[in-house]
Amino acid sequence: MCGIVGYLGNGDAYPILIKGLKRLEYRGYDSAGVAILENGDLSLFKCKGKVVDLENIVDEDSKTGGIGIGHTRWATHGVPNDVNAHPHLSGDGKLALIHNGIIENYASIKEELKSRGHIFHSETDTEVLVHFIEDVRSKLNVSLFEAVRIALSEVHGAYAIVVLDRENPNQLVAAKKSSPLVIGVGKNDDYYIASDASPIIEYTKNVVYLDDEEVALMDRKEGLKIVTIQNQAKTPYIQALELKLEAIEKGGYDSFMLKEIHEQPRSIRDSFRGRINIQNGFVKMSGIDDYRDKWLNAKRIIIVACGTSWHAGLVAEYLFEDFARIPVEVEYASEFRYRNPVIFPDDIVIAISQSGETADTLAAIELAKQKGAFIFGVCNVVGSTISRSTHSGAYTHAGPEIGVASTKAFTAQVTVLYQLALGVAQVRGTIEQKDVIKLMAELNAVPDQVEVALKSNDHVKEIAAIYKDSRNALYLGRGYSFPVALEGALKLKEISYIHAEGYPAAEMKHGPIALIDEEMPVFVIATQGQSYEKVVSNIQEVKARKGKIIAVVTAGDKTVSELADHTIEIPKTDDTLVPIISVIPFQLLAYHVAVMRGCNVDQPRNLAKSVTVE
Ligand code: AGP
Ligand code: GLU
Repeated sequence: MCGIVGYLGNGDAYPILIKGLKRLEYRGYDSAGVAILENGDLSLFKCKGKVVDLENIVDEDSKTGGIGIGHTRWATHGVPNDVNAHPHLSGDGKLALIHNGIIENYASIKEELKSRGHIFHSETDTEVLVHFIEDVRSKLNVSLFEAVRIALSEVHGAYAIVVLDRENPNQLVAAKKSSPLVIGVGKNDDYYIASDASPIIEYTKNVVYLDDEEVALMDRKEGLKIVTIQNQAKTPYIQALELKLEAIEKGGYDSFMLKEIHEQPRSIRDSFRGRINIQNGFVKMSGIDDYRDKWLNAKRIIIVACGTSWHAGLVAEYLFEDFARIPVEVEYASEFRYRNPVIFPDDIVIAISQSGETADTLAAIELAKQKGAFIFGVCNVVGSTISRSTHSGAYTHAGPEIGVASTKAFTAQVTVLYQLALGVAQVRGTIEQKDVIKLMAELNAVPDQVEVALKSNDHVKEIAAIYKDSRNALYLGRGYSFPVALEGALKLKEISYIHAEGYPAAEMKHGPIALIDEEMPVFVIATQGQSYEKVVSNIQEVKARKGKIIAVVTAGDKTVSELADHTIEIPKTDDTLVPIISVIPFQLLAYHVAVMRGCNVDQPRNLAKSVTVE
């Protein structure tokens, strides 16, 4: 899950690498390093810690040179320390390599290389790979480009790599499989390589997304060449990059997470703009129009996703069953892929992923594809691997989400899935047109209602101050609010490190009620709607055991306000749309608690934004 950057060009590599690494730091931030080549001297700096720590150890003399590679790590093999940080060098010190991914058969390759005299300094699989490339190159007496290709044909696992050769200041070699890699082609044959396009945008709009099992040579004389691992030449497909610089900056907020929380009125609107016609109740999604028969004949929908995207999938389960009357199963992608799931050709698999790079989700898609299912993707990152691996799909249009804790991606995912469920229900004739028109009007009001919910910020901050030192927290909801309870708990635990559990409110009495005492904050979604009275009873049960109730209620609610220790009001909407609004106070709460506890909200410990390892 690391971030990798490379540069070969007419300027100095160092500032480009550092700026790029800072933008990619969301992908991993336990250690960082750069290797820069100038006049045959290879300077290598790497350390445990963040990119700012790296900046402190790089000496001035090494900041020039037009070719370099940089890395910010999320450790898989070996603890985060200076030695395990990338770049890693070959045994002869000529090659430097950065790597994102896992080389699964590194142990056997390592043994083989050791028996032939190779000495390793780190615990990483990456160091084994660079020694292996060195070995292939010297044994077969081939070019670096060829050696990388041959070595990778022997490797199992996932990788995005960039390799630099001390003896050749004119070229870089890159390759990828299951980890993302994009190459920017700049003016005068400058090349920029990165895990995503953010380090590239101010230099060029021309990009090539490498496909899996492709190896690229960037050469000052020969230009850009791509071959597959099987040695088939490919013509580089240059596309225009649409990402804008403002979209990846903090815009005056203290953190990306806070910025992204506040962007939601806009991002939600963007995720339905042009897709619904409220006057005549019409859903316009090419993923429905182009595959009407698939949706019409689908016997079952299987949703695969991880983390927050899985929570969006749970909301979608209720929506598809309510509107379109299709049975739905929601699966953790990581579990789905390692079972022997029963998949029929008339099943539709919906894969949900913000990053579009999550390894488990990607593997679940491949498995479902092999078994003949139609795959529909809901992704945020345009051009991401998942968006390219599905038969059809819909982008969420939330804009880049950089904070590791997902916020605006969740509300955009639910919004897109909402429209999909409505559109599919129309195709199948399971919903009345007047209901579609009514629900669309409600959906159209959601961005303004989210704006109102965001106004609870100061009140939520006061509540955060009261509970910031809690050791545990419980989140409860029923029906459409159950996935929001899970999401609220995930937000709190991932950025504040407070242990939190989400539960269906009625399930509490079957076990978790034992946890409740006067210390336990219980966050409940108690909006007026289908299960309101039942939730009120669950609140009574908590109060009877002296638990503290913090309830998210519909504006104007009196009943719960009298029972609860604190209430947070949100505007009234249809039950089916509540998740998009009720999640807002929970995002704010997690944010404030984390800040008050001195945690880094954008880069919580042990996590990374896109999980490109299994
Ligand atoms: C959410 O806050 C997470 N950090 C995480 O659970 C995330 O949702 C999960 O890793 C899935 O990512 P994806 O949507 O990019 O596939
Ligand atoms: N496997 C490599 C390491 O442990 C890269 C890890 C990653 O991409 O997250 O250093």
